[in-house]
Amino acid sequence: MKKVKIIIICLIALVVIGGLAFVIIKNINTEDKQTLDVSITDEQGKEAELNLNSDKILVIYFSETGNTQKLAKLISDKVGGDFVRIETEKVYPEDYDELVDDAKKEKDNNDRPKLKELNINLENYDTIFVGYPIWWYQMPMAMYTFFDNYDFANKTIIPFNTHEGSGSSGTYEDIQKLEPKAKVLEGLPIRGGDMTSDQSNKVDNWLKNLDI
Ligand SMILES: Cc1cc2nc3c(=O)[nH]c(=O)nc-3n(C[C@H](O)[C@H](O)[C@H](O)COP(=O)(O)O)c2cc1C
Repeated sequence: MKKVKIIIICLIALVVIGGLAFVIIKNINTEDKQTLDVSITDEQGKEAELNLNSDKILVIYFSETGNTQKLAKLISDKVGGDFVRIETEKVYPEDYDELVDDAKKEKDNNDRPKLKELNINLENYDTIFVGYPIWWYQMPMAMYTFFDNYDFANKTIIPFNTHEGSGSSGTYEDIQKLEPKAKVLEGLPIRGGDMTSDQSNKVDNWLKNLDI
């Protein structure tokens, strides 16, 4: 009887926590909506601001509302190399609530949304910074497509992400599982809302401690 009670309490807690999480995600960002900055475009062969051992660097990112794009650009300007945006063929809803619902469906269906052609040859790089937002406590499904499409064996992957409270949500470990032959270094999670202020110091400190 006691066991049944515990199971019922756990089930109720799960429903309440799940419902709460849904409400929180739904309400993130709706008032202070950012968008992608169209003046930030892909770039090739940039000089690094910092002194790094590796000169075959790619910074690649997925971003819908602009936060990860800003962080990616900041990192790219510091580490140099090539700078590329991952885009899906499908267009996500502009309405935030619809985007949240759409992303949930993609996650529940374990979808692999098709990506627009990326003009990259991984052979040209040995260090790849990969950025994305957290969507529903994990990487957006488009990132799973990305990792399905490319083989990162013997490459160094350095993840970074934006979020509104979930941190990295275990995604760096997820990437290591998806790319077991890659070396995945310590990533950098930053709150999307913090991207309205300068995050240079945080990025510099993180880069300093990476073995690159
Ligand atoms: C569909 C969707 C789901 C989200 N899920 C989470 C989440 O589970 N945890 C979290 O902390 N933030 C979540 N967020 C907030 C985003 O991670 C955050 O706003 C991020 O900075 C957005 O990045 P972007 O502007 O580069 O698209 C979600 C946002 C969206 C649009």
